[in-house]
Parts: sequence; C-alpha cells; structure tokens
Amino acid sequence: MTPDHVQLAGELVRAEAGVTLPPEKDYLVKMRLERLASELGIDSIEALWDSLRQGDAVSRSLIVDALVATDTSFFRDVFPFRLVSGELLDGWRARHGSEQPLRIWSAGCASGQEAYSIRMALEARRAELGELELWATDRSQALLERAQAGWYSVVEVNRGLTARQVDEHFTPERNGFRIATHYRDEIRFQLLNLLEPFTDLPVFDAIFLRNVLGSLEPDRAANVLDRVRQVLAPDGALFLGCDESPVGLDDFERKGIGRASVYHHRDSRPPSPPSGSRTWAG
Ligand SMILES: C[S@@+](CC[C@H](N)C(=O)[O-])C[C@H]1O[C@@H](n2cnc3c(N)ncnc32)[C@H](O)[C@@H]1O
Repeated sequence: MTPDHVQLAGELVRAEAGVTLPPEKDYLVKMRLERLASELGIDSIEALWDSLRQGDAVSRSLIVDALVATDTSFFRDVFPFRLVSGELLDGWRARHGSEQPLRIWSAGCASGQEAYSIRMALEARRAELGELELWATDRSQALLERAQAGWYSVVEVNRGLTARQVDEHFTPERNGFRIATHYRDEIRFQLLNLLEPFTDLPVFDAIFLRNVLGSLEPDRAANVLDRVRQVLAPDGALFLGCDESPVGLDDFERKGIGRASVYHHRDSRPPSPPSGSRTWAG
C-alpha cells in the first residue's frame, strides 16, 4: 500500500462520512484495508482500489465502514440511560402526560447497543409510557443490519451488561445472545448519513448524538449539530459524547454528570440532579 492509497482512503472517508483520519493512524488504515481485502477474498489493497475505480459501490461502502470508528458498548457512560429513564422521563410525563408519543433518536447508532440500552432502561416504566418511538440511524448498512439482528457475542454483552440484565433482556443463541424480539420490533432502524438532509424525521424529546461529532471535520460537525437541534423539541435533551464540544449551541445549557453531558435549551427547565448521585458539574 502506497502513501497515495492512504491519501485516497482519507479522501473517500471524508467525502462519504465527513470523517477525518488522523495521519498518525496511517498504519491502522493499512491494517484495516488489508483485513477487508482478505475478508473479501481480494489479493491486495491495490486490487481493492481497482474495484473501487471501476465504480463498485459495495467496495466503496465497505472501505468506509472499515475506516470509520464504530466502537460502542451497552450502557456506555451509564448516566444518560439513568437520566432518560428517571428525571427526564418524570419531567416529560409531568409536562405531556402519556397522550403524546415519547420520541428518542440514537443518531450514529453503530451496531445498536445504544438504542437497545435506551429501550432496556425504559423497560421498568414501559407501561406508564404510552407510545414510544425509538429511532436508530447510521450511515452504514452493514452496521444497521447487525443492529437489527440484535445478536451479540459474549464479549459484546460483557461490555456494559450485568448477568442479570442479560438474563432479563436476551436469550442465548449460537455462542452469544439475542435481544428480546419485542425490543427489536419497537426500534426503527434507518439508514441515514448525517451529512445529508433530514427529510422524514419527526421532532424528538431526546437525541443521543454521542461519539460521532468528534471524528467529523469541524465545519461538518457544526452543520450536523445545527440541523440536529432543529429536530429537538424545545424542552428536549441532547446527549453528546463526554469529549465532544457543542459548537454553536450557545443558547443551550450543559449539565455534566459523571462522564455524561446533556444539553437543554436555556429557557426550558432542566431536570434536577438524580438523588444520591454526584452533583451536576455543568
Ligand atoms: C464511535 S460510533 C458511536 C456509537 C454510539 N453512538 C456510541 O456512542 O456508542 C460512531 C458511529 O457514527 C457513525 N457515523 C460516522 N459518520 C457518520 C455520518 N456521516 N452519518 C451517520 N453516521 C455516521 C459510524 O458509522 C459509527 O457507527
């Protein structure tokens, strides 16, 4: 693999996902492309590029998938899920009752752990909720298919779930575990590149946009955030990853708890700190 190939890979990923590959990660690019070529039964990275040059859309999308960060886990950072099923839900119920559907969006859902964690967190209060619309979107078709299948290896379930949670929400299958069918059926998995217009999205009460913006080019991250805020209800909550900065959200207030960050419009009433937890750090 030549430096030209690394540059081409960078350009492709930037164009398709808005993601920048840091130069110090060149070795990782090489390693991942070699692995992809071998999985596809292609002799070399050069041959992979040839198929791309011939307009092979599948190779194109697989190359981007191989290079974009997709790391995730169940109940990542814990607190967002406690907030959603606790204080946020209490506040939302007090304002809207159970007449209005509660809408939550996991944007950049990867292999689905975030969306399923939201659903599991809400399970204990599902009966009092009325209609729940849980959306999970990603730019990767392959990841969405994994998410929709709802099957996870032992290593994956061990990242974030207790044995009791596995018991409650999964059934053992093929050396791994499959999430309860009714959870899968309740989540709308949809292909959506955040760089493209949001044509058929409703307004959401909570949006999880975590660990996605950090890898986008700054202008694109700002543009995505600006459009995401337009589909957030005035009293809605926006969750970002713990290291992600909310460029252009000057009229939003940040509340930090543990490693999690939640943003609210300044003029909406944020929830009180969860009892027995650390105080809001924002
Ligand atoms: C690091 S994972 C984060 C997953 C999950 N949100 C979490 O915090 O655990 C980032 C996800 O964002 C997706 N992504 C990256 N760029 C995207 C884009 N332009 N449009 C939609 N999804 C994108 C990737 O495919 C990947 O699944």
